Order: sequence, then C-alpha cells, then structure tokens
Amino acid sequence: MNFPKIKQITCIGAGYVGGPTMAVIAQKCPEINVTVVDINEARIAAWNDENLENLPIYEPGLRSVIAEARGRNLFFSTDIESAIKNAQIIFISVNTPTKTYGKGKGMAADLKYIELCARQIAKVATEDKIVVEKSTLPVKTAQAIKSILDNVGNGVKFQILSNPEFLAEGTAINDLHFADRVLIGGDYLTEDGKAAMNALTEIYSHWIPKEKIIHTNVWSSELSKLTANAFLAQRVSSINSISVLCEETGADAEEVAKAIGSDSRIGDKFLKVSVGFGGSCFQKDILNLVYICRSLNLHDVADYWEHVIKMNDHQKHRFAEKIINTLYNTVSGKKITFLGWAFKKDTNDTRESAAIYVAWELLMDNAEIHVFDPKVTKSQMIKDLNYLAEQNLEFLSIKDQLLSKLVVHTDPYAAMKEAHAIAVLTEWDEFRTYDWERVYNNMIKPAFVFDGRNILNAKQLFQLGFRVFQIGKKLN
Ligand code: NAD
Ligand code: UGA
Repeated sequence: MNFPKIKQITCIGAGYVGGPTMAVIAQKCPEINVTVVDINEARIAAWNDENLENLPIYEPGLRSVIAEARGRNLFFSTDIESAIKNAQIIFISVNTPTKTYGKGKGMAADLKYIELCARQIAKVATEDKIVVEKSTLPVKTAQAIKSILDNVGNGVKFQILSNPEFLAEGTAINDLHFADRVLIGGDYLTEDGKAAMNALTEIYSHWIPKEKIIHTNVWSSELSKLTANAFLAQRVSSINSISVLCEETGADAEEVAKAIGSDSRIGDKFLKVSVGFGGSCFQKDILNLVYICRSLNLHDVADYWEHVIKMNDHQKHRFAEKIINTLYNTVSGKKITFLGWAFKKDTNDTRESAAIYVAWELLMDNAEIHVFDPKVTKSQMIKDLNYLAEQNLEFLSIKDQLLSKLVVHTDPYAAMKEAHAIAVLTEWDEFRTYDWERVYNNMIKPAFVFDGRNILNAKQLFQLGFRVFQIGKKLN
C-alpha cells in the first residue's frame, strides 16, 4: 500500500467536533484542502453563511479561524460522494449517541451512523485511503469498520486509524491549538499501518510538538478516550458526593477542593462542585464503558463506573428537591427563573444539560419555569424537554401541559421579575455582573437564590436580603 502525498482531507460530520477540528487543520495546513460534509443541509448552509454570527455552533475563537480558512482551503458541502472520492484521508466524525432501541438500549453506543459512513466509503472509493475514527467509539469498533471496508472486493486498500478528540466545548479552539496530546492508534506492527500513522502525524506536526503526539495500538487508543472521559466525570461525581456531606456537616466543599487539589498527586482541575455534569459525552461514554464491561461479564467493574452516573443523577435530583423543599414543599404556580440552560458556559450546546432534568422535576410539581440563557434558543429548550419526555412513556400524555409552563426570555431582568426563586444552572460570566439589588427589589419575598454553580457572591446577596443556597455549603 502506497499512500500518495496528502492533498485532500475529508471529514464526514460537521458537528461540534468535525467543524472546529477541521477548521483548525485547514488553518494550520494551508497546502491541504479540507472538506467537511454532512447529510444535514441546514447545518452545512449555516457553516457556509457569510454572516459568521450564524455559524451552527457557538465557540469562542471559532469565527476568526473560519474567516481565515473558509473558501481558501476549507469547504463545507453536502456532496459526500465526491468528497470521499477525492480524499486521501477521511475522518469519520459523526454522532455516536446512546442506543434508544433494541439490544443495548439506554447503554450501548449506537453505531448505525458509523456503519453508514463505512459502507458509503466502501461504495465510492476507487483509490487506497486512510480512514480515521474521530468519533468516540467502543473498543474494537475499528475491527467492524475494517471488515466492512475490506469486503467490498474492488481492490482498494484501507488503513483504519483511531484518533479520538479530547477538546472540550467552550474552549475547543484553544484545546485544538494547544492540545495536551494527540493520540493516534494504528497497526504499528505493519509497514502500511506505520505509514498511515506517520501520514496523520505529519498533519498534526504542523502545529503540535512531536513529543505530544502519542502512538498506540488501535484498541488502546479507542479505550483511552472512554477512560479519559470516565476519569474526568468521576472527579466531578467525587467532589459532588463530598458536597452532600459538606452541606450536612458545615464543611465547605470549595475549601475541601482547594485543600485536596493542592496535593500535586490529586491536582486542582475538575474539582468544581456543580448541579451535576452534562454534555453529550460523559454520560454516553460511561454508559458505553459499563455496557462493554457487562458484555464481558465484568460486573464489578461495570458497577464501579455506573455509580459515577448514579451520583450525578442524585446531584441533579437533590438540587430540584432542595428548591421544592425550601419553597415550603411545593412550587405549584410559583415562578422559578433559570439563569442558564446550556450544559456549561461559552457554548450553545444543551445535550444532557442538568437544566433539562431540574426543569422537568419542577414542571412536574406544577412550577412555571422562566429561562434566560445568552446563547440557547427557545426551540432548543422545547426540543430538549420533548426528547426527555419521549424517553419515558408515562410523561408523554402530560408533555404538552408541562411545556405550556415554560417561558423563555431574552432579557434577564424580565425573566427574574416577580420570581419566587432564581436557580443558576449554567456558570455564564455575565450572571455575576447583574444588578442584584434591582433583581431583589423586583422579586416576590422571601427571595430565594439557588446557585447550582457557586458563581454568585453569596455574602453580598445575603446583605441585600436574599436567602441563598450554594452547592456544598451550609448557609443560613
Ligand atoms: P454532532 O451531533 O454535533 O455532529 C455529528 C454530525 O454528523 C451531525 O451534523 C450529523 O448530521 C452528521 N452525520 C451523521 N451521520 C452522517 C452520515 N452518514 N453522513 C454524513 N453526516 C452524518 O456530534 P459531535 O458533538 O460533533 O460528536 C461527534 C463525535 O465526537 C461523537 O462520537 C462524540 O462522542 C465525539 N466527541 C464529541 C466531543 C464534543 O465536545 N462534542 C468531544 C470529543 C469527542
Ligand atoms: C468533555 C471532556 O472534558 C473533553 O476532554 C472530551 O473531549 C469531551 O467531554 C467529549 O468527549 O465530548 P465537555 O463535555 O465539552 O468536554 O466539557 P467539560 O468541560 O468536560 O464539562 C463537562 C461537564 O462537567 C459540564 O457540565 C461541566 O459544567 C461539568 N463540570 C466540569 C463540573 O461540574 N465540574 C468541573 O470541575 C468540571
């Protein structure tokens, strides 16, 4: 197998990973054409929109990268066949959600989109190609892709590499520019495998120091991605579990996090208490890990990781419960204002956001939920609640009634006017800078604040007259 010089890269999937990753590759490798394709026409149209405000995802720093590369060597298209045919390297960056049907429902990763990509590559390719798994995949998926590609029988040869993405939303461009490491898994025991790994390494070497590019076998690479997310999520669940204890005992979870984080063996990152982690991947990837362990009869290992999710569910539930209990055991007919809906700041992504679950519990208790989020649209919030309802048959009949109690605002002060309580669900910086005296004067008394991100100045709020709850703190 002889790989020609890389002149064209194609990425299938123009989402939160495909878009920013390919934009940065195009920015750093001006001599290579990069085409990102997707079946979603509206998404591609948004990537091609002249007005950069209309890009389909919000990510700090993304607009300037797109402005630099788009039209020069970065293209967004729905012509998937041509893009596959012309490329020497094809990244697969499609979604791999948790299965919602059949075997492995609610646990396993749904690989149907991956399989479709492999079949389409097999059908269209007329020359040897490197196929790169960029999506997060269960260990051994490369084998399935290889089996589909190798059985086309048209003489075309493929090398499959695993190159998982570690970017976090909200900091994606910085994470891509200054990656801690780039992981490339391949068949390094064969000459063709090594050549493919070197071709991909060469691309990243345009801006990533060589010592940060790690080579492993394919299975180690696939498993490392799931493990990295599991470890990160585990840290959040660990500190959140301690937050429960702090609220009972009078210890302060932030002080505990600082004290333990100063130990260089533990480190200070990912120890922020919260209303619970969200995002498209932590839960999905741990469920997937648990599913793989159970499939291999490793039930103790599966139980261990499953508790990371259980703890997270508990944290979301107890936040909602705290609001209900504090508001005299019912929120029926009460106006509760959510500041934030996204799963973290600096993104418009809402997948698995804690806000969705907390909103649902309060709506079930007949609350009126008013929301202000600087980047999330009303239609997205409705979509999120609809999706949650569809997962639970018993919710379907009451869905419309509950959704009629969701009010979305574009002005935060209008959202908070005459509210019984405010709940901070996302740590957007602007929430800190509001005129809290004005907010207090316009609320129903007693005025409650439930700060699910510990970003507000609790002392100042007390002085204004608010009753404040923060995670992992015993407050009066
Ligand atoms: P996404 O849903 O934002 O984007 C996936 C895109 O793939 C969609 O636009 C969809 O239309 C497209 N697609 C699906 N099937 C297709 C097909 N057959 N042909 C063409 N296009 C197709 O998903 P994402 O957040 O970008 O995640 C993609 C993968 O990357 C997942 O496996 C995820 O676990 C992983 N990942 C995500 C992040 C993150 O921060 N979002 C970070 C690291 C890894
Ligand atoms: C995470 C990982 O950080 C990325 O490395 C990985 O590539 C990505 O998942 C993925 O595979 O999708 P992301 O979900 O975008 O990135 O964002 P994080 O910063 O990890 O935050 C995840 C959730 O944990 C958020 O809801 C955040 O608010 C919460 N969190 C994070 C905490 O509650 N406390 C913390 O200390 C850190």
